[in-house]
Amino acid sequence: MSTSNNNSERSRPLCMIPGPVEMSDTVLKANSTPATAHTDPVFSEAFGQVIEKLRTVVGTKDGQPFVIAGSGTLGWDQTAANLVEEGENVLVLSNGYFGEGLADCMETYGAQVTCLRAEPGKRQPLAEIAQALRAKKYKLVTVTQVDTSTGVLADVKGVADLVKEHSPETLVVVDGVCATAAERLYFDQWGVDVVVTASQKALGSPPGISVVVASQKALSVLAARKTRVPAYYVNWNRWLPIMKSYEARAPKYFATPCVQAIFALNTSLTEILSSSMEKVFAAHEQTAARVRAAVNKWELSTVATAPELCSNAMTAVWLPETIKAADLLPKLKARGVVAAGGILSGKAHRYFRLGHMGISATRDNGFVDATLRAVAEALEECGHGAAAAATGRSSPPRL
Ligand SMILES: Cc1ncc(COP(=O)(O)O)c(C=O)c1O
Repeated sequence: MSTSNNNSERSRPLCMIPGPVEMSDTVLKANSTPATAHTDPVFSEAFGQVIEKLRTVVGTKDGQPFVIAGSGTLGWDQTAANLVEEGENVLVLSNGYFGEGLADCMETYGAQVTCLRAEPGKRQPLAEIAQALRAKKYKLVTVTQVDTSTGVLADVKGVADLVKEHSPETLVVVDGVCATAAERLYFDQWGVDVVVTASQKALGSPPGISVVVASQKALSVLAARKTRVPAYYVNWNRWLPIMKSYEARAPKYFATPCVQAIFALNTSLTEILSSSMEKVFAAHEQTAARVRAAVNKWELSTVATAPELCSNAMTAVWLPETIKAADLLPKLKARGVVAAGGILSGKAHRYFRLGHMGISATRDNGFVDATLRAVAEALEECGHGAAAAATGRSSPPRL
């Protein structure tokens, strides 16, 4: 088994939450390079490569990446501030905590939000989305590809197809923070207009970079605004010349870029693209299937209510009635694995979440196997395990 990673000499637990995720040694080294001017040609080359490689990762020829210091949430602000004007309609497809946050962000910038909420563990039926698209004109429709609170995978292609059919001028915005580079997404082919993501999940590098890719159609919507962009830092009119300049390997200043984080992201993108995106997606699908098989073996249920609704980047698992996340997580940590508790309001203690994206999925490093072993043992220590056979299958709590 290859352990081509700093974890071969690990004296720390594996970070198996749904992001930040484990990083390769080369990414860690790139993140600790000495001070480098943002005007240095070495940095311009790295920045230019990041912009080009992101296009390949999301599957676009002419989409415009924005690579800006910040976290995933900054991408919400970028989208809302640049593409929505006061009073315009936005349709938010919410599958949980992050869908709700995105709706809140849109409202912050003056959008009239209609929120289609799925039942927990499910996604909105396409017929319901089609009906909403026929009922009103929306400037944007947003879809959270994987809502990290539930591990539910949205049908981005299905949504984009509906938009094409019922409201082709509406922009399709995908929150891919917990999905990009793990879940299939074909930006140009599916007709996506904005993907919002971040450096610290399946992109495999440290937290600190907000990544957004915008279609030319989205940029033309920005150009046609009647009102000023109501924000300073996130105004794409300021960033567009910066991105174009660095892509041409020429430095240009608006605000100081996160130099080391960009070196690290460039390194992780090189590692991702050393394989094909198809292989990267397949590796995540196979890893997620192994995790789901283990959940079955533990006689537990995923929060996502059907296999086709389960994310390939992470899994949320209901605990038996008798065990709380706060009981399980320390026992996991004692076994060298950090997992996450739940974040669904009122149900947070009833489930736990595992991240299995990035190098945990694409490399033969044993991280997922070690995690699954640790979960089985910790469950058993909590009284579930042999006991599970006697007490029967756990059922998801009523929501
Ligand atoms: C789906 C989704 N959207 C948005 C965010 C916000 O990203 P960040 O925490 O990097 O600001 C997260 C964070 O986990 C997320 O999972």
